[in-house]
Amino acid sequence: MRILSGIQPSGQLHIGNYFGMMGPMIRNMARGELYAFIVNLHAMTSVHDRARLASDTLGAAADFLALGLDPERCIFWVQADVPEVTELTWVLSTLTPMGLLERCTSYKDKVGKGLAASHGLFSYPVLMAADILLYQANLVPVGKDQKQHVEVARDIAIKFNNTFGETFVLPEPGIETSVATVPGADGQKMSKSYGNTIPIFLDEKELKKRVMAIVTDATPVEAPKNPDTCNLFQIYKLFAPADRLAEVNALYVNGGAMYGKIKLELVDLLWDYFREARAKRAELDRNPGYLREVLRQGAEKARAKATVTLDLVRERVGLKY
Ligand code: ADP
Ligand code: TRP
Repeated sequence: MRILSGIQPSGQLHIGNYFGMMGPMIRNMARGELYAFIVNLHAMTSVHDRARLASDTLGAAADFLALGLDPERCIFWVQADVPEVTELTWVLSTLTPMGLLERCTSYKDKVGKGLAASHGLFSYPVLMAADILLYQANLVPVGKDQKQHVEVARDIAIKFNNTFGETFVLPEPGIETSVATVPGADGQKMSKSYGNTIPIFLDEKELKKRVMAIVTDATPVEAPKNPDTCNLFQIYKLFAPADRLAEVNALYVNGGAMYGKIKLELVDLLWDYFREARAKRAELDRNPGYLREVLRQGAEKARAKATVTLDLVRERVGLKY
């Protein structure tokens, strides 16, 4: 099985990204042929700052490796280093019905949050479809918010296969239901674009500030509370050991849960959980030459796969004459 997913280099990696996508991807190294990449062309839909895009690209690569991705056991590269993807995007866009893109909720959400309504932002799912189809991926591990985009990729693949003959593997979204959407500090989906994240690589003081700012209700300590609707509990449960989680769950249900105390406990849990990754991240930061070399080799391998698919596509559609 071929498993593929990408992440935008558009800000600090947060625990939603980790549980929704990076963690599952890293565990997937054992399950099949893994393709992991940094989607810098997608990030251009929101980042128009040369220095930031360049440094966040290396930063996102360091995040992936620090958390345990082993470049020897997967293909790991930066999207724009394989230019074949943009040609496939064009070919696919000529088959993509406008209505399919108009139905994508992520575009509307992002414009609603103030992102510029550019053509690139609107057609972003076609580039994502090209990412997936170029490598003939079977499974695409993503958070719930990206499920619709994987379905769009599948629809485009079906349309292409029906029009030009069997060419593309049909991809499936891989979603871990227990952590499909990690809530942010304000209870909405945790997202870089909503400013409600708990980033993974922060210093302890800054981490504490973010955790203490998690919004909770004003129910008195003694009153029973519903753990399922409390975003603090939803984040806490991702890190707490099972026996302690059961105790805190009981405090919610029977009364006695103190939000301040749970937040302080969460700071310690987070700090410990990412201790090893933090040390590795710091080491990678000191060694950008190593990172660039890993990405160069990854792009070479990815490109070898991409040219095979693109060659077939060119022949199928009549670009070869
Ligand atoms: P963001 O919304 O913060 O900009 P991205 O769009 O870069 O995040 O998402 C990268 C990956 O992380 C995607 O697979 C996405 O589905 C997943 N992801 C992002 N936020 C969350 C979340 N709050 N819960 C679960 N998965 C998430
Ligand atoms: N659109 C995805 C996001 O914002 C990132 C992405 C781009 C992606 N291409 C992909 C994810 C291909 C999976 C497969 O999170």
